Amino acid sequence: MEKRHIGFDILVHPDASGLADADKQLLQRARKALETAYAPYSGFKVGAAVLMDSGEVVIGNNQENASYPSGLCAERVAVFQAGARFPGEIIRSIAIVAKAPGKQLSAPAAPCGNCRQSIYEYEKKQGSPIRLLLQAAEGAVYECSSLSDLLPMGFDNSFL
Ligand code: THU
Repeated sequence: MEKRHIGFDILVHPDASGLADADKQLLQRARKALETAYAPYSGFKVGAAVLMDSGEVVIGNNQENASYPSGLCAERVAVFQAGARFPGEIIRSIAIVAKAPGKQLSAPAAPCGNCRQSIYEYEKKQGSPIRLLLQAAEGAVYECSSLSDLLPMGFDNSFL
């Protein structure tokens, strides 16, 4: 076998202006969702909007807890809700928007490793890619055509 390289693959748009209307709208839904995040401890607000194949959009935002590890990120709140409401349906895209308290983020917040793993599970389950669109409150939009681009060499059920 030839030597080969496994890497991340992220397309960086300077801003949202060049995106398709559907993508702009999904980012808008995520941006709106972050406003109702329950983040009294970190003040860091994240919104996620999941676009189903049917066109339905499921939103989520981060839910914190006085016992910190009991809280959950926006991405998992959103995809778990999508999995519960629309079992067996395909997830097309997920937009994620984050806002830090008291500072302007220069780049989108990176989804944490647990969220990447959780979304990867759905990608493998449905057998088709889940696109990601990431943005801070405004500015550059990072696009991944598949969650796998953010989780190279991911762990899935083929190992079990
Ligand atoms: N958080 C998310 O909701 N998504 C991410 O991708 C990164 C972090 C949340 C978890 C916690 O409520 C706060 O942001 C600070 O870590």
